Amino acid sequence: MPGTCVIGLQWGDEAKGKLVDLLTSDFELVVRYQGGANAGHTVVVGDQVYKLHHIPSGILNEQVKNLITPGVVLNPPTILQEISTLRDRGIRVADNLLISDRVHVVMPWHLHEDRIQNQVVVEGENIGTTLRGIGPCYRDKVGRHSAVRLGDMYRPDFREKIEHLTVAKQQLLSSLSGEAVTLDAGQIHREFAQYAEQLREHVTDTTPMLLDAVEANRRILFEGAQGALLDIDHGTYPFVTSSNSSGVGVASGSGVPASAINRVIGVIKCYTTRVGGGPFPTEQDNEVGQHIRDRGNEYGTTTGRPRRCGWFDAVAVRYTARLSGVTFLSLMMLDVLCELSEIQVCVAYKIDGKEVGDFPSHVDDLRRAEPVYETLPGWQQDVSEIDRPEDLPENAKRYIQRIGELIGRPVGVVSVGPDRAQTMFLDAELAETYGKLARS
Ligand code: GDP
Ligand code: IMO
Ligand code: MG
Repeated sequence: MPGTCVIGLQWGDEAKGKLVDLLTSDFELVVRYQGGANAGHTVVVGDQVYKLHHIPSGILNEQVKNLITPGVVLNPPTILQEISTLRDRGIRVADNLLISDRVHVVMPWHLHEDRIQNQVVVEGENIGTTLRGIGPCYRDKVGRHSAVRLGDMYRPDFREKIEHLTVAKQQLLSSLSGEAVTLDAGQIHREFAQYAEQLREHVTDTTPMLLDAVEANRRILFEGAQGALLDIDHGTYPFVTSSNSSGVGVASGSGVPASAINRVIGVIKCYTTRVGGGPFPTEQDNEVGQHIRDRGNEYGTTTGRPRRCGWFDAVAVRYTARLSGVTFLSLMMLDVLCELSEIQVCVAYKIDGKEVGDFPSHVDDLRRAEPVYETLPGWQQDVSEIDRPEDLPENAKRYIQRIGELIGRPVGVVSVGPDRAQTMFLDAELAETYGKLARS
């Protein structure tokens, strides 16, 4: 069976975009199946940096078809901006980008509501969303009465739908914000009818296409957004996103049977970052965290917010690797830790004096979790130019091996910088398939 998934195993920004771009040469289709413009995936090719929010990171490879499938929530002006920016830079975006007519549309009232709700304190903190209207849009999708799907925008009753929804949404936003909110139905309709026209060439029912591809054994790469710890059902609820961002979301978000997925690549940084609120047991709100932030340029791709930084948490990643059915790990940012003389890895938690190895289901317990650390020696050597695994410093090799042991999965890929070339494949078969591209 032909499906490979790339899943972030932490709180997002694990460098999924880099890995997807690199693997793309071996696939016919690349699929984004959940999340929306909250994602920010960076691909670096030589001196060119591409930041993608909706568009799959396969877009830079001309041979590949890129699909956005029903589990995604789509912000039309944002994706149109992405398309035009890519075209301006000479990247072809035409029949190689297909968007399901089943995706839900982020409407202006969703953005408005996200801004209002983001002031609300839950479990003692703000969620700190990306303000891209993700939660309100998914909420309307599940609620069914107030949702807009992309296919609705081509229907004769679209104007009527907008008129009806704006009345209800005005009331909702006014009561949430405590001041009168006016939505101009005519203007919203005109604007979105225009977006519909501009997007028309890309819109189709991707579901039969993807099922045909599965049945024809075509090679499909699924690009996860966010990270498994942000999964709505299995993450650090309520400090999560509103979709299934762990491996369990691939089949439902894309519309393929779970049996079509035969390989899951779990992407991890060799430390941990988080943007927004919520517990983070290994956070280093000190000079170590600042050092990682500076070296790793840890600022949000979508919002520019400084990312919270800390040590690698093997308790959390062991959990998400098991949950996501990970086949092997891709360990990113090895270059970032190169100046540290000692590196800590969290191997267990102590909660109320008791040592636990399972990731807690309630944030209250996670807040009380004290990390139990194992200290490993640093390599204190620049590794960003190294292109053969055997040339890595001994302590870096030891670190990689220990991470694999703690997670219970082999490390198949190591990344030592943002560029395609700064990647090593530890497994001989992977090196054969992808190594040439990485160095081309
Ligand atoms: P994504 O959301 O998972 O695709 O990750 P982001 O693009 O938000 O963040 C990852 C950042 O790290 C991007 O700026 C990448 O260009 C960069 N990056 C990727 N791999 C490496 C690496 O091995 N070392 C360093 N220093 N940066 C990397
Ligand atoms: P990529 O795909 C990191 C976080 C937000 C916030 C929480 C909820 O680039 O890894 P939302 O706007 O989704 O309602 O915000 O989820 N978040 C991300 N953090 N990387 C992302 O995407 C994220 N997408 C959402 O910071 O804590
Ligand atoms: Mg990102």
